[in-house]
Amino acid sequence: MSANKLTEFLAKTKLVTGSGCVEQLKYEINQNDCNTMLIVTDKGIKNSGILEKVETILKSTNVETIVYDEVKPNPTVTATDEAYNLFKDRGIKSILAVGGGSVIDSAKALSVLFTNGGSIADYFGFDIYKNDPTPLFAIPTTVGTGSEGGHAAVITEDNTELKTKKLVFGQTLFPAVAFLDGELLRGMPGALVASTGMDALTHAIEGYVSRNGSVITDALNLHAVRVIGSSILEATANTDNIEAMNKMVQASTSTGIGMANGGLGLVHGISHAIGAQYDAPHGIVNAILLPYVLEFNWIADPYKFAQVGEALRVNTWGLSVEDAAKAAVEKVRTLTKEVGIPEKLSAIGVDKENIEVLTDIAFNDELYMAPNPRKATRQDIYNILESAI
Ligand SMILES: [Fe+2]
Repeated sequence: MSANKLTEFLAKTKLVTGSGCVEQLKYEINQNDCNTMLIVTDKGIKNSGILEKVETILKSTNVETIVYDEVKPNPTVTATDEAYNLFKDRGIKSILAVGGGSVIDSAKALSVLFTNGGSIADYFGFDIYKNDPTPLFAIPTTVGTGSEGGHAAVITEDNTELKTKKLVFGQTLFPAVAFLDGELLRGMPGALVASTGMDALTHAIEGYVSRNGSVITDALNLHAVRVIGSSILEATANTDNIEAMNKMVQASTSTGIGMANGGLGLVHGISHAIGAQYDAPHGIVNAILLPYVLEFNWIADPYKFAQVGEALRVNTWGLSVEDAAKAAVEKVRTLTKEVGIPEKLSAIGVDKENIEVLTDIAFNDELYMAPNPRKATRQDIYNILESAI
């Protein structure tokens, strides 16, 4: 990052935070013309009881709701288009996303389709769609996506020979309001806090060392490293620890705004390739890849990596900047182990059979290659994958 570099900063989502803040949904809905509202969610959220709590709140409004609970991890063009065709004639005026990244991204994609029609594949890229999307409200139920604070939807292009993850970006694709309610997340599985929390840590670190960042995104990302580093163990161990859950969900959104404005890096480039090919869980893939990519990247900006170490409470007293940077990489590796995530991608079914394909997809993904602090060759990516598998 250079403060001299030309950047733009955009954040348009009203963030409502704190225990019980989801109750404010009533007020926000009454402020807007939301009738009829499509609730986008998944079966896990339905079974967890969270959907019921949200529906109870909505009963005290005049809004009519329709529930779509079929979102699957790594949402595809086919699934998104099917959902649109199912609801396009139902007079949907607003959308409420209740879920993790896949749900929020699906909801964003649907919000584009409801006002523009066609297939979501028609809108991959920056500001391709013409009409403003349907107003969107988001209640994140994980602590990692950051999508509730950003203006992108990640959708897997599955009707092509090679499956890849593509992004729909739009200056008007930010949710109108997001409710970051740690109390609502009480009782979620600790393993989900671990995987999604490590995704948020990945956003924070990749965003902080990104070549496209600014002083403003640095502030959002570095403090998020600090908050996640000091809360993720407690939150993983006990998701009834509401203070830790509130910190995690707010830090996660902070990284979402950071990534919308400063980009990410090679971890996401490689993990999107793996996610599309193996339908693998995004947070776990990122968490496994993170130390391997940091090990490759740190020489590009030892000072910033040393600062990441300090934010993660590494004792850097008396260390050279280079040794402090290396200690930061080791701290991330330890944290990954401590929250129960495996060290190798083979543990989640990724094998070396597809390593060439994965390497090619990641190498050709400019969205993540360009901001990565160290210039990576195709061979570098191959080597990272070989070590991580
Ligand atoms: Fe991510």
